[in-house]
Amino acid sequence: MIPMPDRVYLDNSATTAVAPEVLAAMRPYFDARYGNASSLHSFGREARQAVDESRAAMADALAARPEEIVFTSGATEADNLAILGSALARSGGGHILTSKIEHDAILRAVEWLKPMGFDVTLLDVDGTGRVAPGDVASAFRKDTFLVSIMAGNNEIGTREPIDEIGRLCHDRGVLFHTDAVQAVGKEMLSLENVDMLSASAHKLHGPKGVGFLYVRRGTRLAPLLHGGGHERGLRSGTENVPGIVGFAAALALAQAERVDVTSRMRRLRERLMTEVLKIPATRLNGHRAESLPHITNFSFAGIEGESLVMKLDEAGIAASTGSACSSPNLEPSHVLVAIGVPLSMAHGSLRISTGRDTTDADIDRLLEALPRVVAELRAMSPFKVGE
Ligand SMILES: Cc1ncc(COP(=O)(O)O)c(C=O)c1O
Repeated sequence: MIPMPDRVYLDNSATTAVAPEVLAAMRPYFDARYGNASSLHSFGREARQAVDESRAAMADALAARPEEIVFTSGATEADNLAILGSALARSGGGHILTSKIEHDAILRAVEWLKPMGFDVTLLDVDGTGRVAPGDVASAFRKDTFLVSIMAGNNEIGTREPIDEIGRLCHDRGVLFHTDAVQAVGKEMLSLENVDMLSASAHKLHGPKGVGFLYVRRGTRLAPLLHGGGHERGLRSGTENVPGIVGFAAALALAQAERVDVTSRMRRLRERLMTEVLKIPATRLNGHRAESLPHITNFSFAGIEGESLVMKLDEAGIAASTGSACSSPNLEPSHVLVAIGVPLSMAHGSLRISTGRDTTDADIDRLLEALPRVVAELRAMSPFKVGE
């Protein structure tokens, strides 16, 4: 790899650096304590203890019970387990309510269920990406059994009113799932009205390849993976012991630092909004205030987001257009389309997402490069941009 010491990383909603504290906590479970948590000998018992302690600490942090945490390979699996698992636990079909701006792990999972007799309603959002609780209430049907609305959007950062939506679901005896991947560790999340919640370690300075689904006691769920019956039969497969230990360490760190880190992130987001919107023909995608602290998304008329990302990369700045998962695909982002961004602008979007290590100096670098890069790309564009 070519060393590039001066690079600035502003793509923390795609993934984050593993924090040194997290790496240190994980390391022994790769070599000295490498047992299989199901083995009876001392190596196995050490691994089991690490998994149990991690689970207990995470449950405590979320005000959940340890047995309500089901470890998975990440949030894609957790989302699929929530959607498919609750659908497959039913005898007949039924109706699922979700929104147009969910992650593909939700949208593709509900789509997959349709030929099996399930109906799906994709709720609209407003121009800032908010789902109206009233829309959820009026879309309920007699056979609605599941609602899934994310806690905060991964592309535009908009926070959703999940407490209110969860309460509406519980009043009707409907299961409520939330994909809280981008919110865990950054927001105070209450599980009071939540039956299932998905999270992923690599979004909060933990390792890749580990996540969990919180499953409220008593929720009926069918497993998707069959085998040795791990995770109370809900997710077979040898536990990723270093990953689970790392996830617990990352969550503990995020909670300990939350107030400091998120207030810095909010301040940097304010700076970004003030300065970037000075660039002519630029818009903010998302909500100014009802937002996760680390994500800010802009559109620039007359340019392609991909070119912008490449030009910034040449300047040593890593940001993204839309979500990392859909970047190779040249369709405009389904989230930007859902909030009504005109097609000409939806193609020119840039997502900037900060992490625990992002500084003012990093934002200075971006603010120095961005107006220049946008102007250069516009000068090459066949479309004239009105100012
Ligand atoms: C909102 C949201 N849900 C789900 C996922 C998928 O998570 P994972 O990478 O752990 O599979 C992501 C990651 O991009 C995400 O941002």
